[in-house]
Formats: sequence, structure tokens, C-alpha cells
Amino acid sequence: MEKLGVAIIGSGGMSAGHADSFLQLDQHIKLMAFTDIDLSRAKARAREFGAPIAVTDYQQLLKRSDIQIISIVSPPFHHFQTIIDSLDAGKHVLCEKPVVMNLAELDQVETAVHKTGLGFGGAFQWRFGASVRQAKALHEAGMFGDIMYASNNLYWLRTREYFDVDWRNSYQKAGGGIVFNLACHGLDALMFILGDIEHVSAELDALNYQMEIEDTGVVILRFKNKALGHVAATVNAQQQRSRVEIIGTKLEAISNDDPYCVAYEPWQFRSIDPGHQKAVNEFLKTQNFQYEPASHRRLIAEFVEAIMAQREPAVGVSEIRRSLQVLTAIYKANRLKRTIDLPIQKDDPFFTDLNPEL
Ligand SMILES: NC(=O)c1ccc[n+]([C@@H]2O[C@H](COP(=O)([O-])OP(=O)(O)OC[C@H]3O[C@@H](n4cnc5c(N)ncnc54)[C@H](O)[C@@H]3O)[C@@H](O)[C@H]2O)c1
Repeated sequence: MEKLGVAIIGSGGMSAGHADSFLQLDQHIKLMAFTDIDLSRAKARAREFGAPIAVTDYQQLLKRSDIQIISIVSPPFHHFQTIIDSLDAGKHVLCEKPVVMNLAELDQVETAVHKTGLGFGGAFQWRFGASVRQAKALHEAGMFGDIMYASNNLYWLRTREYFDVDWRNSYQKAGGGIVFNLACHGLDALMFILGDIEHVSAELDALNYQMEIEDTGVVILRFKNKALGHVAATVNAQQQRSRVEIIGTKLEAISNDDPYCVAYEPWQFRSIDPGHQKAVNEFLKTQNFQYEPASHRRLIAEFVEAIMAQREPAVGVSEIRRSLQVLTAIYKANRLKRTIDLPIQKDDPFFTDLNPEL
């Protein structure tokens, strides 16, 4: 089988993670091109990762028959049109989170995916971390008992320069603030483990930086299985850390505090019942979970496997919708200062805009 050619759209910070992950698959993949509106960035990445092409306009690449996969790592406002153009041109698409700006755009993406039959996936990589997978397996085996509480605290540090980057400080270009763009990972991991959410309430604010999107937020979650939970996020921490905790009637999970590797480094699974603790330890030994550094490698390997097997990638449209539904409800809850039930319906103004005129 011929190797699949890959083009990476957007040659900023995250593009290196995509390139590195595709290069691990060199039996099946050939890294062909980088694009960026800043040609010097595209050229630098192309040199760094040995890709023969660097251009400013991705449309040039869509005409090429030696490129089959478009990997989108440009700013959020640029994702939707690139996805649609790429699918229309017959390319499979992997797109960075938060994927698209609203649920209406995701509906259009879904229509294009169904029409073309091409592969489409989003980049929620925390769920590929060994510890998140362990927690999910334990939950599915009933080892937690009933889960009563689940949370992610994400205390990161982002300086003024971070938000000075043109696309990072507005609803129009970033889609939302740090809950939409950063805490979406912890939220995705909690939903991956526990399942869907019934309703949310939220308070979001820009407490440190003067901008319309939030730098700090707290979200109360009620899961469909009745568990309560929260996501608390700020980018104003002095010492960066992140933690996931899950409390069940028979077992609790406490992650490490590593700000970026929380899903990947070992978690503690604790029970006060020694017999149950032993059963949990035995259960974990029977599973083949491998700790490895945080990266997009497993996500991208699974995406390529899915393309080759002509099946939907693990983070396909329906998984992206689950996350975007909850994120939309969070922004609505904050604006209206009340609890919001899921799902958000098509005639809701938030369905087409996370910051609508009301
Ligand atoms: N999954 C993760 O953990 C993770 C981590 C960081 C960023 N991201 C996502 O990756 C995407 C990019 O983030 P980043 O941190 O690399 O940003 P960045 O600002 O470092 O890079 C974005 C690049 O896109 C380029 N660009 C802008 N408009 C473009 C266009 N029209 N065509 C081509 N290139 C264009 C910019 O010049 C810049 O080089 C965002 O969607 C972000 O949310 C995901």
C-alpha cells in the first residue's frame, strides 16, 4: 500500500507535536507539507521535520494527489473552513481541539463527513493517557462502586504575551476562553470515564487580563449517572499544577499533580477495604496500560489506523459533539447565571454562537 501523504496546516507551537506523531508512523505515512500565513514558520517546520513542501495557502495542497491527510493546527477560527475545503477536496482530516466554534458548524462538518465518507477526527489526547484509560476500565468493571464526585483542577500560568497573540483573546478568533481552549481536555477526560452530563452551571471571568474571554472559570457538573463534579481552571497560578479526582463508594482515584502530564503519569487508586484494594491491584495487573510521556502519538496512531481500516476514528464527530454540547452549555450558564440542561437545541442562540447577542 502506498504511504499516505500528510500536510500540516498551521506551523506554530502545536504543529511540532503533530509532525512528531506522524513521523512515528513512517511505515504508513509520508510527511509532505507545512503551511502557515507566515511562510518562514512553514519553512522552518518543513526543514525541521524533513517535509519537501512549505507554502502559505493550503488550497494549493488540496489539489495534490500525493496528500491524503490534512492535519489542522491553525487557530480555532480558521478550522471550520479548512475542514470543509479539505473534505470537499477528498482529504481525510484531523483537527485540533476545540475543533469548531459552535454546534451549527459541527452539524455542517458532520454532513460533509457523511457525504464524502472520509475520515474525520478531533484532538482530545488526554483520553489516550494510560491513567485515564485505567480509570475508565476500573469504572466499566464496577470497581469504583457508584461514582459520586469527579473533578479536574487545572491551574496553569499564561503570561500577557500569550494573550497578546492575535487569535487568543476574543470569542471571534479563539471561540472562547480558557475553559473552551484548555480545560476542554479535563472535561473530555471526565466524560470519557463517567459518561454524559445532564446539566451544568458556571462562573467565568477575566480576573487578571483585560479581555472579553475568561482567564478563570469554575463549572459545576451533574453527570447523567447522578455524580456531581467540577472543573476549576485558571491561568493565573504561581506554580502550575493539574489534578483529576474521582470518588466512588468503593474506590477513589487521585491523579498526580503534573500540569501537562496528568493523564499520562500514574494515579493512585485507593480503597479503605483491603480486600477490594487487592482486587483493584490484581485487576490493573491484568490490563496492558503503558505509561509514556504526554504526546499526541497515540491519538494520531489511532487516527491513522482508523483511516486505513476505513472506520471512524475514536474521537469522531459524535465524541466532539458531546464535548462541544457541554462547553456550549457552560458559556450559556455563565451568561444567563443559571443551570443549563443538556442538550442545547438547534433553535438556541448559543447553538450558533458561544457569545450571542441576547
Ligand atoms: N491538543 C492540545 O493539547 C493543544 C495544545 C496547544 C494548542 N492546541 C491547538 O492547536 C491550534 C494551534 O495552537 P498553537 O498553540 O500551535 O498556536 P500558535 O499561535 O503557536 O500557532 C498557530 C499558527 O497558525 C498560523 N496561522 C494563522 N492563520 C493561519 C492560516 N489562515 N493558515 C495557516 N496558518 C495560519 C499562525 O501564523 C501560527 O504560526 C489551536 O487550535 C489550539 O487550540 C492544542
